[in-house]
Amino acid sequence: MSAPDIYDPAYVRDVFDRCSGKYIAFSTLCSLGFTERWRRQCTEMLADLPPGARGYDFMAGTGEVWPHLLRAYPDLGEITAVDISSGMHRRAMERLHAMRAHKIAFIEDDVLASELPEASADFVISTFGLKTFAPAQHERLANLTAHVLRPGGRFAFIEASDPRGWWLRWLYLFHLKAVLPAIERIMLRGAQDFAMIGTYSTRFGNASGFALMLEDAGLSADYRRFFFGCATGVCGHKQPA
Ligand SMILES: C[S@@+](CC[C@H](N)C(=O)[O-])C[C@H]1O[C@@H](n2cnc3c(N)ncnc32)[C@H](O)[C@@H]1O
Repeated sequence: MSAPDIYDPAYVRDVFDRCSGKYIAFSTLCSLGFTERWRRQCTEMLADLPPGARGYDFMAGTGEVWPHLLRAYPDLGEITAVDISSGMHRRAMERLHAMRAHKIAFIEDDVLASELPEASADFVISTFGLKTFAPAQHERLANLTAHVLRPGGRFAFIEASDPRGWWLRWLYLFHLKAVLPAIERIMLRGAQDFAMIGTYSTRFGNASGFALMLEDAGLSADYRRFFFGCATGVCGHKQPA
C-alpha cells in the first residue's frame, strides 16, 4: 500500500476530527502553555484594528484564538472562522455557546476550495494552521489572503517551527518527536494523531517562505521569530487604496 499524502485535505480533516475531543487540553499541556502565549502574540501582530473590523480566522480549530482577539479588540465587528474539520467545528459551536459570542460565524470548509468574497475582510488571522499545508498550498493561501483583504487590511499568521541554530533545538525536537507521541500512546490508548502534528511541525520549518509568498501576492509582509524560533510568524497589510 502506498504512503498516504499527509497534505491531502481529506487526510488532514480526519486527523483533526479524531483529535478534536482532546485538542485544547493536549495543545496547552504539551506546549507547556506556550501555544496560548503565541496566540496572544499573533493577535498583537495584527496591531490597531479599527472599531467594527470584520475578518477571518483561517484554520480556526475550536476557536482557540477568539478569547485573545476579543480581549485585545473589544470593538471587533465580526470573526468568520473557517475550518475543514466537523469535529473541530462541533467543539467550536460548544465554545460559542459558552462564550455567548454573537460576533462569530463559522464556515466548515476547505479554506483553499472556499469562495470567500474579494475585499471582504479588514483582517485575517491564523494560529497554527500553516503546518498542514505543502508549499503549493501555502502559495494559494497567500493569494487567498490578498484576495479577501480590503485595501489597508491587516493579517497575522503564527506557527510552531523548527528552531534551527538554537543550542537547545535537540531538546525541543525530542519533546515533539518522542515525548508527545509517548504521552499520546499512554493517555489516548495508542492513538498517533497528535504525533502527526509533531511530524507536520518539523516538516514545516518556519514561516519565512510563506512571508515571501505573501509579498509575491502583493502584500507587505514582516517575518517574526518567537522564543528562539520555536514559533515563527508573519504579519503585514495590503496597501491602502
Ligand atoms: C493545529 S489546528 C489549529 C487550530 C487553532 N487555530 C489553534 O490555534 O489551535 C489546525 C486546524 O486547521 C484545520 N485545517 C487544516 N487544513 C485545513 C483546510 N484545508 N481548510 C480549513 N481548515 C483546515 C484543521 O481542521 C485544524 O482544526
